[in-house]
Amino acid sequence: MTKGLFATHGIEAMPHVDAGEPVEGSGTGEVTLKRALTARHLTMLGIGAVIGAGIFVLTGTAAAQFAGPALVLSFLMAGFACALAGLCYAEFAAMLPVSGSAYSYSYATLGEVVAWFVGWNLVLEYLFAASTVAVGWSGYFNEMLRMISAWIGVDISLPAALASAPLTFDASGHHIIATGTLINLPAVAIVAAISWLCYRGITQSATVNAVIVAIKVIVILLFLAVTFHYLNPDLWHPFIPENEGGAKYGWSGVIRAATLVFFAYIGFDAVSTAAGEAKNPQRDMPIGILGSLAICTLLYIAMSAALTGLAPYSELNTPEPVATALNYVLGNVPADSSASHILGTLKILVVFAALAGLSSVVLVMLMGQPRIFYSMSRDGLLPPLLGKVHKKHRTPYVGTIIVGVIASVLAGLFPVDVLGDLVSMGTLLAFTTVCIGVLVLRHTRPDLPRAFRVPFVWIVCPLGAAACLFLFWQAFVVRWWLILGWTAIGFLIYGFYGYRNSKLRQNAH
Ligand code: ALA
Repeated sequence: MTKGLFATHGIEAMPHVDAGEPVEGSGTGEVTLKRALTARHLTMLGIGAVIGAGIFVLTGTAAAQFAGPALVLSFLMAGFACALAGLCYAEFAAMLPVSGSAYSYSYATLGEVVAWFVGWNLVLEYLFAASTVAVGWSGYFNEMLRMISAWIGVDISLPAALASAPLTFDASGHHIIATGTLINLPAVAIVAAISWLCYRGITQSATVNAVIVAIKVIVILLFLAVTFHYLNPDLWHPFIPENEGGAKYGWSGVIRAATLVFFAYIGFDAVSTAAGEAKNPQRDMPIGILGSLAICTLLYIAMSAALTGLAPYSELNTPEPVATALNYVLGNVPADSSASHILGTLKILVVFAALAGLSSVVLVMLMGQPRIFYSMSRDGLLPPLLGKVHKKHRTPYVGTIIVGVIASVLAGLFPVDVLGDLVSMGTLLAFTTVCIGVLVLRHTRPDLPRAFRVPFVWIVCPLGAAACLFLFWQAFVVRWWLILGWTAIGFLIYGFYGYRNSKLRQNAH
């Protein structure tokens, strides 16, 4: 029995490696996903999934409560762990161009039970991140309605009962309490709209994503260029403020902030869920994964240096730190001057960029989750319904609808901070497994064609796994009950469904 639990998915050496998903043009007559994405699409998908709540919402808290100006170091640390994991994802995604991402890689290397565990944790990453970020989107949307109301002189903002989450945790962090509102309507609406787009087709989704990404990156660059003159290097001293106990400043604060801003990097791996739809995955997956990660890391380092150089870090403790930093600068320039007009316009653009940024994260996450379910369903670990591909749109449409409904319910009911730690913990476990998986497969199947190879694999993989586990541990000690509860539910489902219906196990008997 134990052997069955750790049985691995067979993989065949082909021009790319076949892990059992039908490939477009394979001639089996089965409706397949459509291979339509280029390296540019994939890089855009990566940037689309990465830049979002992490920079537009979380940076302020991370600087004000934990790292101070050394937030830059926290971004570097989290970026380092992601770069190591990113190299491992690149090797796998070029070799196994399927939709299941870390789930499929684990199935091919570490066995079914580990694959299930990883697949189940990816739900935390994709589905829960989509909901979390949709809630952040709703905050910026309400802010935009307030700005437009002030501008046109008519109040068009939503009634409070429809504008925020009806549930939250109490001060102890253990009990859910009602806030008195009914539903977070904008969060539900954005998830519904984007799910519809994902249902319609991969090309449409990728094109909309590319437009959104262009908007957010242009505004970020504009922000960096315009505010450059207002940077005050004195605000970067002391660079690492003296520790005030616990994780408040000092090196422990820098590390705590790194676990928080790790959220900002989540998403580059979502590129790998589109591997089944890439035209030339062997060449383009590494470009998409590593290219988007490199671009986002540079933008993050520049943004965190800019924010802490524009306003004292203690002032940044707000859910919209970019706008807060601009407000601070605005307070120091004469009203009605051209500088104040430029900065005021920039503030409006930042709200639009945040809305754009957050929607592309929701988009890529909502694209990724049904594709992982698709792979799990083809392996028999989830019901066949989730593996159905739409005849016309060539998307995993049933999974897309189910994921959309669940994500809307979560987004409509819960506030942004409840799910963030779960998202990071689930993702870090997946990253760790991918780092280990690369080493295992190099050892067990050195013969397989690898279009991209992790350099210095015996250093990069163990270091990547250790860095991800280290960050996981920082979050685990605070919220261990959440992840253990989630894992227990997952194994119950596996016991009742996946274990009995696994195709690998059935074929073995
Ligand atoms: N990295 C994504 C974000 O920051 C999840 O919103």
